[in-house]
Amino acid sequence: MFPTAPATPAPAKPDPLEEYLSSLLPSSDLAPQALHRAMRHAVFPGGKRIRPRLLLTVAAACAADEAETELAMHAACAIELIHSASLVHDDLPCFDDARQRRGLPTVHVLYGEPLAVLAGDALLTRAFELLAETPPRLARRALRIVKLLGRATGSLEGIIGGQSLEQVDFGTDIIDRYHAMKTAALFRLAAEAGATAAGATDAGAWGEVGHSLGLAYQLADDLCDAVGSAEAAGKPVRRDTSLGRPNAVVATGEQATRQRLQSLLDQVVVRTHQLAAEPKPLLELIVELTGHFLRTTT
Ligand code: IPE
Ligand code: IPE
Ligand code: MG
Ligand code: MG
Repeated sequence: MFPTAPATPAPAKPDPLEEYLSSLLPSSDLAPQALHRAMRHAVFPGGKRIRPRLLLTVAAACAADEAETELAMHAACAIELIHSASLVHDDLPCFDDARQRRGLPTVHVLYGEPLAVLAGDALLTRAFELLAETPPRLARRALRIVKLLGRATGSLEGIIGGQSLEQVDFGTDIIDRYHAMKTAALFRLAAEAGATAAGATDAGAWGEVGHSLGLAYQLADDLCDAVGSAEAAGKPVRRDTSLGRPNAVVATGEQATRQRLQSLLDQVVVRTHQLAAEPKPLLELIVELTGHFLRTTT
């Protein structure tokens, strides 16, 4: 009898989010090639993709149909492009001066500062553009998501305003506002846009769930910066103190930060049970996040 050939492992199934993201970005063969390479380096390989996954999970929890899921996928890609743009700019020498992100050199280290600034700008504009490429039947919802995207990115309540707060004199009382604007705004958007794409009537309540999760996320990131390791995080740590950035651990202490983080996660779990017809996938995402928090903050 012939020996049986060793079973070849089945090829990994392509991830629809990764495929969509790649198809929505200009190829690096297209001119201007260096700019497109820089944009792709900002997006691939990805990090945890937590915001788009939150958006898609909420859309599914709100029973999105096929066209609604397509709109949700466009919104999910838009949010990841905005997040990636914010990281490219955040790592620049004039902000956090970070040379490593996701375990790799940052965009300005590889491509120079001018192209890093432009790559961030181009990712941001592409995010808005791609929401115009959605199913026509859902144009009104796409327009609503564009508005939410503008709010979460902008100067009044969004990332850009939040990042500006580090540039001015601040007291410890600024922490909540700073975290709400620079981080939780995009999480609020993810949850609200997922529900909006699915036509849910309680999209605002979903936004609150996203907001709490976003605040928890930034508290975990502050803990990671204050007491975690660069190896587990894939990015430099102890930067907030050396750069004089507001950090919850510095403002309120490690124990209070951990307690607040836990109480925010508890709130998210309670609200998820109340709002979702099928809460399991979202609860699984929260468990995965909690595991990530534990790995990076001890
Ligand atoms: C980093 O975000 C910036 C923060 C708001 C803490 P992520 O931790 O989501 O980064 P990636 O995309 O997974 O690398
Ligand atoms: C980044 O905040 C939030 C953004 C809006 C980009 P941080 O500066 O704390 O995030 P990391 O630690 O560099 O990922
Ligand atoms: Mg920063
Ligand atoms: Mg930073």
